[in-house]
Amino acid sequence: MDRDMTEPTDANPDDDMALTLLRSARESALSAYAPYSRFRVGAVVLADDGTTFSGVNVENAAYGSTICAEASAIAAAAAAGIRSIPTVAIGGLDAAECYPCGNCRQLMREFGVEHVLVQDGLGGVREHTLDDLLPHSFGPESLG
Ligand code: THU
Repeated sequence: MDRDMTEPTDANPDDDMALTLLRSARESALSAYAPYSRFRVGAVVLADDGTTFSGVNVENAAYGSTICAEASAIAAAAAAGIRSIPTVAIGGLDAAECYPCGNCRQLMREFGVEHVLVQDGLGGVREHTLDDLLPHSFGPESLG
């Protein structure tokens, strides 16, 4: 756990919270291991109990073994027993915008992510619902 945001939340992150999460994601990106793409990404997940977990992209000489920032943040949360993640913030240091890849959208779907916060390239936050980013999706309940 990175820190306790104290207020359990499953509601819309307010503007301050959204900015804080995005800044924290960008700060994490400083630790990205991205010697091949030089595209540094950080992600912070906000769990339903108010705790946060960060992740960075971790590349590999076997390129296909690369782990995205969102995947490593979700894995850190899952390892701590978290099963519900309302909000994910994603910050990149090497591009104005950094949207999650298709695979990470699916990983978010598993843990009930609703709000996806990305940088708008102007120092602000753009908020999307996961449903917008991954419409007609397949999830745990789809298995019946
Ligand atoms: N990457 C992420 O970590 N998250 C994203 O949302 C997009 C892409 C990483 C994977 C790879 O290390 C680098 O960015 C370039 O694709």
